[in-house]
Amino acid sequence: MAHSFPSDFLWGTATASYQIEGAAHEDGRGVSIWDTFSRTPGKVKNGDTGDVACDHYHRFPEDIALMKGLGVKAYRFSIAWPRLFPQGDSVREERGFDFYNRLIDALVAAGIEPMVTLYHWDLPQALEDRGGWANRQTAYAFADYAAACANAFGDRVSTWITLNEPWCVSWLSYSMGIHAPGKKDYRAAVAAAHHTSLAHGLATRSLKAVNPAFKVGLTVNMTNYINESPGDPVVDEVIDLLDGNYNRWWVGGVQNGEYPATLLAAYGDLVDGVILPGDMDLVRCENEFLGVNYYRDEFVASARPEDLPLRDRAYMPFDQRANLSLPERFTGKLTDIGWPVTPHGIKDLVLRIHREWPGVKAMYITENGCAYGDEPDANGVVNDQRRVDYLRAHLSEVSKAIKQGAPVRGYFAWSLLDNYEWAEGYSQRFGIIHVEYATQRRTIKASGYEYRKIIAHNAVN
Ligand code: FCB
Repeated sequence: MAHSFPSDFLWGTATASYQIEGAAHEDGRGVSIWDTFSRTPGKVKNGDTGDVACDHYHRFPEDIALMKGLGVKAYRFSIAWPRLFPQGDSVREERGFDFYNRLIDALVAAGIEPMVTLYHWDLPQALEDRGGWANRQTAYAFADYAAACANAFGDRVSTWITLNEPWCVSWLSYSMGIHAPGKKDYRAAVAAAHHTSLAHGLATRSLKAVNPAFKVGLTVNMTNYINESPGDPVVDEVIDLLDGNYNRWWVGGVQNGEYPATLLAAYGDLVDGVILPGDMDLVRCENEFLGVNYYRDEFVASARPEDLPLRDRAYMPFDQRANLSLPERFTGKLTDIGWPVTPHGIKDLVLRIHREWPGVKAMYITENGCAYGDEPDANGVVNDQRRVDYLRAHLSEVSKAIKQGAPVRGYFAWSLLDNYEWAEGYSQRFGIIHVEYATQRRTIKASGYEYRKIIAHNAVN
């Protein structure tokens, strides 16, 4: 059965600056927290850094030509803040602006719409040295940086994503210590969770001040928490906390100017002096779309430790993620990064968003994809059949969701290229195009050709 899409559906691919650009020390780029973190022993697999990555900084014309060949209509990329403002202050580095001007011009010339993410995790180290996202001032610095981008690129860019995955920016980075800056400080993570919301609200306003016609949104990573012990009230309670912490905090903030009450109660005095009077009016804002990154569902079989009071369970650093476990039915079926394949979840999620936050006027799937390490065979062919299956299954579910009323306007495959997968270094390959890092040779995978077919037919046949 064919799963078709609306005629104006926006087919795209996505990347992020630190994951692909390389040229880490060129043209005056300042140090980012990922430069520092990737050099901290034990933090990234094999000690890999983004110094060279896919060398996209020099090879972007080739990468754009590849996208054009696939029929891709839009490209979601991020701007490295420290290329434009090496110290995170107001001192500009024109060579950084020049690079993004060249990139955007080349996209426009190829007929590919540029969709810009302003923050995909490479914070100027100078700002981290003053507390990073745990410091309220970072939100104001971000709004200034957003205005500078709008002024420089807004004649050619009309769609802007402020931050990518503020949950990762806050919890994974300041509490779990898995991403840069690698802190394990619960209080700092709570502060970052608010300051990223505030940053989105402030940046939305500074972008709109430059051009009210801009389309602006936040990209969140969301999941469905599946209760594997239905009827157990302790599990229900923990799912409410996890869902609040991961899913509802940012969307509810932007849409309704409210954070989940159970979480605020659980965080208690950690929000005192962080959420200031009037803040929630700034957090709440009118956006044209919500960006949704979806990879997998999460499963909760039990709530451990059960004897802890609710408050302490909410305090429980999620680095333990003690409540999450994988049901046996997924054994042997995981992607290389260890994630289950749950395509129905993408449909459930966008329908839930549509139901629960009717103010979300449009959604883009700003990321979706999977890690499989398939390499070119003797004939140079990358037959990544499992990624073909993943792509087809997820897009079929997106098509069904749209037919059931979810306002999903586009899909961005993660990722255009195999790239630097953060703490996993180069060990995980998410691309629809293979990159041989030693030579920088690109090879379109079977999934890339499949994507081209889907785009051409505007359907999964
Ligand atoms: C998301 C990130 C993206 C990529 C994918 C696999 O959380 O936004 O940069 O690493 O996961």
